[in-house]
Amino acid sequence: LNYCVPRERRYVLEVLLNGLRRLEYRGYDSSGIAVDADLQPQPPGSAPAYAGASPIVFRQEGKIENLVRSVYSEIDEKGVNLDAAFSVHAGIAHTRWATHGVPAPNNSHPQSSGAGDEFLVVHNGIITNYEVLKETLIRHGFVFESDTDTEVIPKLAKFVFDKARDGEGDMTFSQVVMEVMRQLEGAYALIFKSPHYPNELIACKRGSTLILGVNEINGQNCGQSFNNVKSLTANGNPREFFFSSDLCAIVEHTKNYLAIEDNEIIHIQDGSVSILKFDREKEKPASVERALSVLEMEVEQIKKGSYDHFMQKEIHEQPHSLTMTMRGRLKNSGVILGGLKEHLKTIRRSRRVIFIGCGTSYNAALAARPLVEELTGIPVTMEVASDLLDRQGPIYREDTAVFVSQSGETADTLLALEYALENGALCVGVTNTVGSTLSRRTHCGIHINAGCEIGVASTKAYTSQIVVMAMMALAIGSDQLSTQTRRESIITGLSSLPSHASEVLKLDSDMKELASSLIDSESLLVFGRGYNYATALEGALKVKEVALMHSEGMLAGEMKHGPLALVDENLPIIVIATRDACFSKQKSVIQQLLSRKGRLIVMCSTGDISAVVPSGSCRTIQVPEVADCLQPVINIIPLQLLAYHLTVLRGFDVDQPRNLAKSVTTQ
Ligand code: G6P
Repeated sequence: LNYCVPRERRYVLEVLLNGLRRLEYRGYDSSGIAVDADLQPQPPGSAPAYAGASPIVFRQEGKIENLVRSVYSEIDEKGVNLDAAFSVHAGIAHTRWATHGVPAPNNSHPQSSGAGDEFLVVHNGIITNYEVLKETLIRHGFVFESDTDTEVIPKLAKFVFDKARDGEGDMTFSQVVMEVMRQLEGAYALIFKSPHYPNELIACKRGSTLILGVNEINGQNCGQSFNNVKSLTANGNPREFFFSSDLCAIVEHTKNYLAIEDNEIIHIQDGSVSILKFDREKEKPASVERALSVLEMEVEQIKKGSYDHFMQKEIHEQPHSLTMTMRGRLKNSGVILGGLKEHLKTIRRSRRVIFIGCGTSYNAALAARPLVEELTGIPVTMEVASDLLDRQGPIYREDTAVFVSQSGETADTLLALEYALENGALCVGVTNTVGSTLSRRTHCGIHINAGCEIGVASTKAYTSQIVVMAMMALAIGSDQLSTQTRRESIITGLSSLPSHASEVLKLDSDMKELASSLIDSESLLVFGRGYNYATALEGALKVKEVALMHSEGMLAGEMKHGPLALVDENLPIIVIATRDACFSKQKSVIQQLLSRKGRLIVMCSTGDISAVVPSGSCRTIQVPEVADCLQPVINIIPLQLLAYHLTVLRGFDVDQPRNLAKSVTTQ
């Protein structure tokens, strides 16, 4: 945050700490903040000047609230004046998901150049050549205090700064940062702060996302395009600037934002902003002009409202999110997907479609796979992004690679995208995040429009992703006369999904009761097949990631090839047996499990119990029947509710499960 209108220190602390709360879902094992030390007294009317004293830095292990407590107690202890007013002020803060070094105050960001905090840096990403840089810096006398890769960055900045000072003279802040960028390898979004450059902030990025929000105080907006805006009060109004890894921390301050591009250096100084493009080959960076975008997100989306947890809110939002996903896209005779229109012919000529994603997004693609195969006749293969990269699996020009990612920022998915682009495939993105790297790097794509998802365990994005890929199958297959009736019935099925989602949500209290009967179980198996193999994987993933209970989703067809050995009267097993072409096979799976005294919970279509299980032999979850290929959208909802209630009953953190992060932006 940097602002150029008189504000108290209290204000900057609150904005930064609140920003961290908004970003906490991305990482929550430690955090830190640095704000300016006191201003020297200024004669009235003089230009803002800052003493250049060492910033005040706080770092803390654990959740943001630990940091908040430690900040305010230290402030009390040291007698720091919260009412001190600054006419220009720069502050930085960070919440961390540990990759190098355990969660601890010394490993938290801002990382420092050493005594006096001459350079402070917050970093999102991974520096891959940090070991070499560290060795060099140690040889030059630097003493490292953390186990992070990040620490080399502020130390390198100090090294560059000192060298220049000892030689030809002082460098500007951007020159220092540029020299640092020249040395760094890996992925990063960085913000630098230094008492040598009071009131200034520099941000730069390569690989990791960084957003700049611009708020014109007392103004309606701040213009559509800017560069090298020198005046403190552009358009007559003072400005506030916000850097953030995503829009969630910015939306409550401004709707005007800029998605910073790779190798751009953003320099904020006394309320003006300049953008430079770094080029390793060139001595001098070029100055660039960028247009601001206007954010279409409401603050309500990032608040819990009347719900206890974001995951709960997002599960219950599904009738609405599904409506938003389909809004304006369904027509009686087909679907309209503006983002794919120009590319449909190429996709139809593809030799195969490859779905690529991680976690829940992979599962969503798996749920849509049978329908894409059925309606397009094109073979579909599935790739977990990291595995594709590990194998360097073959991808050809004749392939259509569909990248599925809620955040659009998952490192493995983005690296797989670069790999597919290099190999000449047509790359299609399916994402929930407008302006994300995925949406910018793919040739074409579809936004799922599910609204901001904050709970680490993905719920509403999953169902919207399936719907988008079903619509994609309909669009690609729309030239085939033989499937017209089938396509029409799917379109009817799609339009009734929101009301069926509302209906299935009424199972909430049943799922809570089921959860209480499973609370002490050590393990849970979920068997599915066909369209609902993905439901089994995703249901088990939900239980695993939030309720911290071992859980496996299994292909029911494989049951007799191993998993059957686990079956006894204690291990709870959910079998999905809703109506589709696999129904009779699932019935026989249930028989086999019952004959081995399995502890079954059967998911079936409403009113279908007697057709599925002998009366009273097991618990059931009855769900509304929809078109077979859309059944995964409905079937997952009770399992999401089950995972949610299990987590609450077991006393675990729903929205921030142990060791996980919402967007995994590192490899
Ligand atoms: C992380 C999250 C998962 C998510 C996966 C893929 O592991 O914890 O919930 O499914 O990343 O994320 P994406 O944003 O690419 O869908």
